[in-house]
Amino acid sequence: MLGVIVSGRLAQTDFQRVEESKFLINIPDADNINHIVVFLTGAVPLPPGMAGAVYFSWPDPNAPPNWQYLGYISNNKASAIFKISQLKKLHEMDAIDNQMSIFGQQPISHIAQIGVSIESEASVIQLTPAASTTNYLQFAQKMLENFFNFSSSFAVTQAQMVPNPSETFVPLSTLQTWFTNFQRRLEQNPNVWKLL
Ligand SMILES: *[C@@H]1O[C@H](CO)[C@@H](O)[C@H](O)[C@H]1NC(C)=O
Repeated sequence: MLGVIVSGRLAQTDFQRVEESKFLINIPDADNINHIVVFLTGAVPLPPGMAGAVYFSWPDPNAPPNWQYLGYISNNKASAIFKISQLKKLHEMDAIDNQMSIFGQQPISHIAQIGVSIESEASVIQLTPAASTTNYLQFAQKMLENFFNFSSSFAVTQAQMVPNPSETFVPLSTLQTWFTNFQRRLEQNPNVWKLL
């Protein structure tokens, strides 16, 4: 029913059914892949009103699967091309931040996985693809950093201060604490801003 194509390779259709409506396929040697096409073979159409939500993961022996939503296919949109290079980079950055610095070099998987979950089209169209989360996360981190850089460029010690009774001052250390805390929360959960 489902297939994937990596440019230059044979099409793969060896999806395994892992649950009633969930399918998995391994993509070997995935390190240098930038795009993946996922398609319906046409052998069996999806049931009416259903769509296939497509997810990407780098299996990590030391962590639960981290499924990133890419987008969907349906009978009306029987194939789609997804960019995965950015997702891989983000995953590696996470691995470096979270583990490598603490436990030394960890083996990085070379096999990626694509998961397809057959769900109602109405629920699938509400999902947000990971690529937009990635951009959002990068934007938020850059903005944090830029704000911190900008405000700390005005830092003066108390000794250097020219008295100005009408100006209000904030200790730079409080900004530093906020910056560190917010960045940590954002790394743990890119959707943290929804909870504020
Ligand atoms: C913040 O400052 C550091 C050190 O000067 C610099 O490397 C970095 O690019 C700056 N970041 C932004 C977003 O302006």
